[in-house]
Amino acid sequence: MELNEVREKYLAFCKKQGHTIIPSSSLVPENDPTTLFTGSGMQPLVPYLLGKNHPSGSRLADSQKCFRSGDIEEVGDNRHTTFFEMLGNWSLGDYFKKEQLPWFFEFLTKEIGLDPQRLYVTAFMGDEKNGLPKDSEATEIWQQLFAQVGVDAEVVEIGSEADGYIKGMSWGLPAGRQGRIFYYDAKKNWWSRAGVPENMPVGEPGGPDSEVFYEFTDVEHDSAWGEHCHPNCDCGRFLEIGNSVFMQYIKQASSTGSEQADDSFGLLPKLNVDFGGGLERIAAVSENSSDIFLVGPLWRIISELQKHTEFEYGSDPKITAAYRVIADHMRSACFLMADGVVPSNADRGYFLRRLIRRSVRYADKLNLPIGTLASVYAVVMQEYQKQYPELTVDHSDAIRAEEDKFRETLHRGMKEFTRFAGDGSISAKDAFQLVTTYGFPLELIIEEAGERGIKQIDTEGFKELLKQHQDLSRAGSEQKFKGGLADTSEKTTRLHTTHHLLLKALQIVLGPGVKQRGSNITQERLRIDFSWPEKMTEDQKREVERIVNEKIAEDLPVIRNEMAKEDAEKLGAEHEFGAKYPERVSVYSVGPKNATEENPQLDEVYSIEFCGGPHVTHTGELSESGTFKILKEEAVSAGIRRIRAVLE
Ligand code: ALA
Repeated sequence: MELNEVREKYLAFCKKQGHTIIPSSSLVPENDPTTLFTGSGMQPLVPYLLGKNHPSGSRLADSQKCFRSGDIEEVGDNRHTTFFEMLGNWSLGDYFKKEQLPWFFEFLTKEIGLDPQRLYVTAFMGDEKNGLPKDSEATEIWQQLFAQVGVDAEVVEIGSEADGYIKGMSWGLPAGRQGRIFYYDAKKNWWSRAGVPENMPVGEPGGPDSEVFYEFTDVEHDSAWGEHCHPNCDCGRFLEIGNSVFMQYIKQASSTGSEQADDSFGLLPKLNVDFGGGLERIAAVSENSSDIFLVGPLWRIISELQKHTEFEYGSDPKITAAYRVIADHMRSACFLMADGVVPSNADRGYFLRRLIRRSVRYADKLNLPIGTLASVYAVVMQEYQKQYPELTVDHSDAIRAEEDKFRETLHRGMKEFTRFAGDGSISAKDAFQLVTTYGFPLELIIEEAGERGIKQIDTEGFKELLKQHQDLSRAGSEQKFKGGLADTSEKTTRLHTTHHLLLKALQIVLGPGVKQRGSNITQERLRIDFSWPEKMTEDQKREVERIVNEKIAEDLPVIRNEMAKEDAEKLGAEHEFGAKYPERVSVYSVGPKNATEENPQLDEVYSIEFCGGPHVTHTGELSESGTFKILKEEAVSAGIRRIRAVLE
C-alpha cells in the first residue's frame, strides 16, 4: 500500500470512530520553548492532555510531521529516519484501553490486511519504585483480541531490553511454546516526552504504553545483538509499528523530595489515550518489506538519485546506507525549509545545515554530480504537496547555495586534514584547528580518519580543548554581563542575587514597566538605577523589603541556563536597556522551590534575567549576611530612581 493510501485509510477509520481530523502542526513548535522541533504527534496537544478543552472535541486524529534530530546517527539502517509522519489518535478523557487496543488491532488486520500471526505486542510491567502498577488490563485485552482470531497469546515477563536477549521469547513457557505478549520495564513501555519516570520534570504527563511489532519471518535473528531474539531486539526481525500510550499520570513533587518515590505520580484530571503509529513503517509492512526505503517517496527519491550515478542501491551495504542517509536527510531538509528554517550555526538552522552537509559527504561517496541534492526538492514537492501545501515554494536554490559553501569548506579542510594526517595520527590540536579554523565537523574527521585507516585520533583531547575554548569565551561574555560587579567575592555575589530579587520586587510593587537602568555592587552594598517617575512612598519601600526577605526565607534555587537570545526574550528575561547581547545568552532564574538544573521550570520562576553571574545557588544563603534593607531611595535624573540597599 502506498503512503497516501495508508494515511487516508487510517484517517477514515478514525473518523468512523467519531474522531475529528485535525491538520498537522508545523515542525517548528508554536508557543513551546522547551523543544526545537515537533518530534511526536502529541507535542502540540500537551495542554489538552493536561486537561484543557480542545475546540475540536475529545476525539482527535491526524497525521503529524515529525523530526527527531537525536536519530541523525541512526539513519542508514533499514528503518530509521529523522523525518517521519506519525499517525495519531487521541482520547482527551473520552475512550480508553478497551476501545483503543481493539481499534488499532482492527485497523492493522482488517484495513491494512496484516496477518495477526505476524503481530506481537508489549505492555508495561510496572515500576514499584515510582509507585506505578503493572498494566495487566492491556494484557487481558490483547489476550481476548488474539483469541478472537485464533492466535495463541502466551504472556512472557521480560523486564529490560538486556533481559530480553537472555530470556528470549519462550521464557517460562512449556517447551515448544512462544510468547505473543511481552512485559517490559519503563525504558520500553512507559512514554513521556522526557522518557522514563525519573527523567520527567514535575508537571509532565506520561503513562504506560503498549507497542505493536510486526515480524519479518524471512529475517533471521542476528546474534551480534544478543543470544536470543525478542520484540525489542534490534536485529531487524521485528519492527515497531504503533504505540498506544495511556496518558493518565502527571509527575508531581514527592513528599520526600526524591526524584523517585512511590508518591512521585498523581493522576491527570482525565484518562487520555495518545496513540502514535509510523506511517511509512505501516506502509512498508503492508508490502512485507523490512526496508522502509523501498517504498513510497523515499524510494522515489532514491530512484531519482540513481539516475545520476553508476552505483546501485542494494549492491553493497555502504552504498545502500549512503542512499538512505541522503534520501532521509534531504527529505527532512525540504520539510524544515518549508516550515521556515534556514541553514545557520545555531539551534534549528544548525540541524538543517548538518543534514545538508552530511548529504553532501554521502553524495561524494556515490559520485553524485554537484547540484543533484538540490534536485531532490522537486521530488519531495511532487510527493507531498497535496498533503502539505507549505511545500509549494521551491527552496532548492538555498540547498544549492549551502552545498556550494560547504564544498569550499570541505575542500580547504580536506587539504589541511591530509597535511595533518601525514604522520598517521590526528592530534587534539589538529582536530581543534580543523573544527574551529576550517569549520570541518568532528564527525567528518572521525569518518575520514576511519576511511584512511588512521586509528589514532585524540577526540578526548579535542573535547578538552574545545571546553577550554568555550570556557574562555564564556568568561568573555561574563565580563560583558558582569555589569556593575566590583568583584566576585562571597559578599558581592550574595548582593548580586539580592539585586535580582529586588528588581522583581520593584516590578511587583510599582508595576511591570519598571526596568533596570544601571547597577553597581560592592561587598558593602548594592545600587540599582531603575525607571520610575516619582519618589517611592514609605509603604512601597517596606513592601519591597518584605518581598525580598520573604524570597530569601523561601530558600529558592538559583539556576543558570544557556539559551538562544530569542528564547530568553520569549521567556520575558530581564535585560538592561540598550545592552547588546550575543545570539546565545546566559540566563539566571530564581525559583520555583522545586526547580532543578535538569528541570528549571522556566514558566514558574520568581525572577529571570539575562546575566552572566555569579550567583549563590539558593537564596537562603543571603540570610547569612543578614536581612535586606533599603538605605536610600533618590532621583538620579528625570524618570530614573536609584536605590542603595544592604544585607545586614
Ligand atoms: N507519543 C507516543 C510516541 O511518540 C505515541 O511514541
